[in-house]
Amino acid sequence: MSGRNAFYAQSGGVTSVINASAWGLIQGCRARPDTFGTVYAGREGIIGALDENLIDTSKFLDDTLEHLLWTPGGAFGSCRYKLKGIEQNRTEYERLIEVFDAHDIGYFFYNGGNDSMDTAHKVSLLASEMGYPLTCIGIPKTIDNDLAATDNCPGFGSVAKYVATSTAEAGYDIASMCGSSTKVFIMEVMGRHAGWIAAAAGLASERAEFPPHMILFPELTFDADDFLNEVDRCVADYGYCVVVASEGIAYADGTFVAESGVKDAFGHAQLGGVAPALAKLVGERTGHKYHYAIADYLQRSARHIASKTDLDQAIAVGEAAARYAAEGLQGVMPAIIRGDGDSYTWSIQPADLSDVANHEKFMPRDFITDNGYAITQAARDYLQPLIEGECFPPFKDGLPEYQRLDLERLVARKLAPRA
Ligand code: F6P
Repeated sequence: MSGRNAFYAQSGGVTSVINASAWGLIQGCRARPDTFGTVYAGREGIIGALDENLIDTSKFLDDTLEHLLWTPGGAFGSCRYKLKGIEQNRTEYERLIEVFDAHDIGYFFYNGGNDSMDTAHKVSLLASEMGYPLTCIGIPKTIDNDLAATDNCPGFGSVAKYVATSTAEAGYDIASMCGSSTKVFIMEVMGRHAGWIAAAAGLASERAEFPPHMILFPELTFDADDFLNEVDRCVADYGYCVVVASEGIAYADGTFVAESGVKDAFGHAQLGGVAPALAKLVGERTGHKYHYAIADYLQRSARHIASKTDLDQAIAVGEAAARYAAEGLQGVMPAIIRGDGDSYTWSIQPADLSDVANHEKFMPRDFITDNGYAITQAARDYLQPLIEGECFPPFKDGLPEYQRLDLERLVARKLAPRA
């Protein structure tokens, strides 16, 4: 006899290994047919549940699903969509439960970051209030690495590896001609409020003279004069200056250095454009020739240079989510726990969603040097193991062999469209 069905949704900004978590979860459910029936995935995340757009993952053979292990992006579609508080929009939660009920869904797996853990928590509260039996498990994911209760977040290690690698590579480029050409290179990386991604670039610099020479963290106030003085010092001392800037750096009054003016569904300011803003400043105030790059989606989709540690952890949290649900755990998220020994070890343990929801984990001050522009040994010790190991995708005709799932054949709807 098979168990009740499961619903899985990807949420928010994707990562190069989020599909590996989906693979881990689906395999974990398939291995427990007494507990789980069909795993349905939401077409475009939670919107798929609200609109009753469900993908029947049992239709995909193992060979097809295996591509999830090395294909970036969100294989089932993701979304930035905020379910409001239960008091403000109870009908939306009720619609979710109505859809779950119509498809005998007894398990809700939500693969996302801070906001998604909050949503999973709220859904579990409302389901219990409505007397609907529903097991809610969060699956961590965010390149920003800012989730509480877990040592690190799946998705981050691979971005960290990409950013450190790209910074090192660009450093070799600029060093070649800095005597007669470009003196300043600025790379903008993601990380809205937390500087973990920017910090990871520091792994490329074993000595002060190696790039990146400056890292700009969102945890610290941006001071234009101090920044320009330091750029000049690096150019004088090393011949050039490589800067890695978090998209979220802000002036003392809280204004982002690069705010586009657009806000997303969560009310977050859309960022992007720090690099050109800083480059303009450098050009106007120092006269140095500059180049800049915005890593943007390249960084969170760079599966070709993903970290093996990250991939393994992404799979493990997906598998653990299925295991926890089968064991009867409720309202938890598989968290990554770092071992105490000298060499890096990790394990997975459940953390309460209420401890994760809406908390942001920032870079500790002792991970940043006193001058505010580099990482300390403590930060290196934390970051280094997360980028370890290579797990290249298979290549065909010179390109990674990624694959899109056929998402068009949706499960037949049983309900009227939502109002
Ligand atoms: O998911 C986190 C993140 O990658 C942030 O670092 C970044 O600011 C944001 O997503 C970008 O989101 P979007 O793709 O929705 O503009």
